Amino acid sequence: MIHTEGMLKDGALKGKTYIVTGGGTGLGKAMGTYFLKLGANLVITSRKLEVLQQTASEMERETGGKVLAVACDVRDYEQVEAVIKATEECFGQIDGVLNNAAGNFISPTERLSNRAFDTVVDIVLKGSYNFTLAAGKNWIEKKQRGVFLNIVTTYAWTGSGYVVPSAAAKAGVLAMTRSLAVEWAKYGIRSNAIAPGPFPTEGAWSRLLPGDLVKKFDPAKKVPVKRVGEHQELANLAAYLMSDFAAYVNGEVVTIDGGEWLQGAGEFNNLDAIPNEMWDMLEASRGKKQ
Ligand code: HXC
Ligand code: NAP
Repeated sequence: MIHTEGMLKDGALKGKTYIVTGGGTGLGKAMGTYFLKLGANLVITSRKLEVLQQTASEMERETGGKVLAVACDVRDYEQVEAVIKATEECFGQIDGVLNNAAGNFISPTERLSNRAFDTVVDIVLKGSYNFTLAAGKNWIEKKQRGVFLNIVTTYAWTGSGYVVPSAAAKAGVLAMTRSLAVEWAKYGIRSNAIAPGPFPTEGAWSRLLPGDLVKKFDPAKKVPVKRVGEHQELANLAAYLMSDFAAYVNGEVVTIDGGEWLQGAGEFNNLDAIPNEMWDMLEASRGKKQ
């Protein structure tokens, strides 16, 4: 058994209907595809209908499942409500929402226009609370259980220079996740988050490592396990958290980054650079003193 294989048993998500925002590309596409393989119905949304329709056909061919593609800008509450309605019309009910859509780019903060700041915060934070509010109201009104899974990142709690709008917005999403895990548990609604480390996607790499940066800053080098993530590893975790197997997991943020953020945080982690011969010398000199 290896980490690039599907983890849950066949039919683990049978009968469930999940909405994945930003589901036409990258990690949303990978997670959605695995939900389908496990028997779920899927709704994918983003701004680009053509991309969504192509992904939906691909997913249906690969998995034999049913996919509804709906164009929606997550920043617009009316469009979000329309996705909820279209999902109910197509599949009857909604069982979970994966808030995955995001916008991001690197820039020194003082070079950002106020509109640039708005753009990222609106996609990430407003987009996530728009879907959360619309789906949450729907479930509460219908006395139906539901699950939210929000994709954040480890700098939601460490912060990070050069992606400040994204860091501020993801921190807001994490606070919302933990707040509603408590407030809405009484309605049978669970809320969790995943904080991925680097997982190569065209969308993230083109905006966060543009041009030659990808050669200068190999993300794998910053990860203690010395590699980037595989999409299936994330899909396995997401499927578990969306499933009823995770019925007692609520308010959690699960980091999946090979130890990356702790590498930077631990005071003495840079002692990795000390070779064994030097440790031998240090040990020997300590022996002499005793
Ligand atoms: C500075 C920029 C900019 C950049 C855009 N802007 N790109 N400013 N540096 N690289 C400014 C524009 O000049 C404009 O401000 C404002 O932002 C809005 O830009 P638009 O292009 O009109 O916005 P829009 O078409 O809505 O596109 C949104 C976007 C784009 C975020 C800019 O990149 C996008 O569509 N992204 C979606 C996918 C994405 O970003 N995926 C990566 C997620 S990765 P002015 O003032 O000129 O009007 C991720 C990983 C996290 O989140 C963790 C990794 C470990
Ligand atoms: P991606 O492929 O660019 O995914 C982002 C998706 O969001 C796209 O499908 C995009 O589609 C959609 N989107 C953007 N703006 C939108 C809007 N206004 N309304 C609706 N949809 C919108 O990048 P990714 O790497 O897979 O990222 C997926 C998630 O993982 C994000 O939350 C990201 O922050 C998170 N993450 C990624 C990494 C990584 O290493 N890749 C690490 C940590 C966290 P349209 O352009 O068609 O709208």
